[in-house]
Parts: sequence; C-alpha cells; structure tokens
Amino acid sequence: MIVVLLGAPGSGKGTQATKLKDALGIAHISTGDILRESIKKGTPVGKKAKEYMEAGGLVPDSIIIEIIAQRIKEPDCKKGFILDGFPRTVKQAESLDGILKESNLKIDKVISMDVTDSIVIERLSGRRTCRKCGVNFHIKYNAPAKENICDKCGGELYQRNDDKAETIKHRLEVYRKDTYPLLEYYKKAVINIKADEDIDKITERLMALIKGK
Ligand code: AP5
Repeated sequence: MIVVLLGAPGSGKGTQATKLKDALGIAHISTGDILRESIKKGTPVGKKAKEYMEAGGLVPDSIIIEIIAQRIKEPDCKKGFILDGFPRTVKQAESLDGILKESNLKIDKVISMDVTDSIVIERLSGRRTCRKCGVNFHIKYNAPAKENICDKCGGELYQRNDDKAETIKHRLEVYRKDTYPLLEYYKKAVINIKADEDIDKITERLMALIKGK
C-alpha cells in the first residue's frame, strides 16, 4: 500500500501519517523529518538544506529525490509506505513515478488534506515538536499531559524555527506556487478531504478511504 498525503503546511499530514502508520503497519516517510534529522546530525545534506528550510523555501529537487530513492529501498517499506511532504513539486512527482516504475510499484491513494489559511496559521503557531522523537503536539488541540514534555518519550518540546509568523506566510506562498499544481498532476487520482475536523475523526475518514469503504 502506497499512500501520498498532500496538503498545505499545517494541514495535519504528519499527525495523520503517524496514526496511519500504526494502524496500517506500513512506513511513514516524512521528508521534513529526514531533513531535520540530517541538520541535527550535521550531515552534508543537512548543511545544504538548513538555509532553505529556515527561510520556508523548498530544498532543491535533486537532494529530495535522492533521499526518497534511497529511503523506499529500506526494509520497513516492503509492506508499503505513506509519503508525507513528498512530492512537493511536479518534478518530484515525475521522478517518483519513475522510481516506483523501476520497482514495479504504484501509488494506491493520493489524498489532499484541505484547510484554510487561518487554520494553518493557528495550527502552526501552536505546534510544539519533540526534540528527541519528533512527535508533534499542539498547545490547544493536542496538548501534552505535562507542559513542554513529550508524552511519548519524555523529550523536551520546542517551537520549530519555520513555525514563526513571517515564515509560515512564506511557506503558504511556496505551497501555492510549487505544490498546488500537483493537484492537477494527480487530478485523475486525487481525493480531497476537509481536514478541519478533530484529529480522530479525520483518521477515521482516512482509514475508510484507504481501505476503500
Ligand atoms: P515539513 O516538515 O514537511 O513541513 P510542512 O509540509 O510544511 O508540513 P508541516 O510539518 O508544517 O505540517 P503538517 O501538515 O505535517 O501538520 P502537522 O500534522 O504537524 O517540511 C519542512 C521544510 O522542509 C519545508 O518547508 C522545506 O523547506 C523542506 N522540505 C520538506 N519536504 C520537502 C520536499 N519534498 N521538497 C523540498 N523541500 C522539502 O500539524 C500541525 C499542527 O496542527 C500540530 O501542532 C498538530 O498537533 C495540529 N493538528 C493537526 N491536525 C489537527 C486537527 N485536525 N485539529 C487541530 N489541530 C491539529
């Protein structure tokens, strides 16, 4: 099972992919998480990506495509995977088609999670992320049991640099310019869902869609 989750920054892709991964027993591939981990470790990819990410722009396609080509060969992807934050440009989508074709694989579902800009701003400005395991919380909608402490691993929660007001605005512009055209690219396959309800309701809807109900 290969699922592509599309949607603006803050539409809830990461939150839902984490839950779907557990429910479906498939891998969750977040290019954002992979890049943040590379920055943390100071790898060459992390060094190249840092500036783009902090400014809210896109990391060059060539870097991202190479990351995905390697990642989907890993053993945990054998049963399938959820792509969260990839593809983000038409070039990335075309490359993904080529990579999957080489392995006789195909995308099963493309789902776009639709939210308004005001929801994006509210969600991203209230998001807190665990420094240790990367899980996301929200100060109002998905608050941790103890303030600033991750429920899952006890790590410290922090606010991502790109979740500051000015950068969120720029990320939305980049989404509209570079990622929105993917809805046209996938127009025969894409299923749009309203992603402004509560987290568990959206998971239920996604599970029903993925299981073809
Ligand atoms: P990335 O980490 O992928 O960021 P993003 O796509 O902008 O998405 P976010 O992680 O901000 O949001 P999300 O949709 O996952 O929402 P979440 O579930 O966290 O990418 C970061 C950067 O890396 C990019 O800007 C770019 O520079 C680079 N990059 C990554 N991939 C790339 C690629 N393919 N090509 C080029 N560059 C790339 O939810 C947000 C908040 O809302 C959380 O606090 C959550 O608790 C809360 N929430 C979620 N759902 C709900 C709900 N239903 N109700 C209330 N609150 C909710």
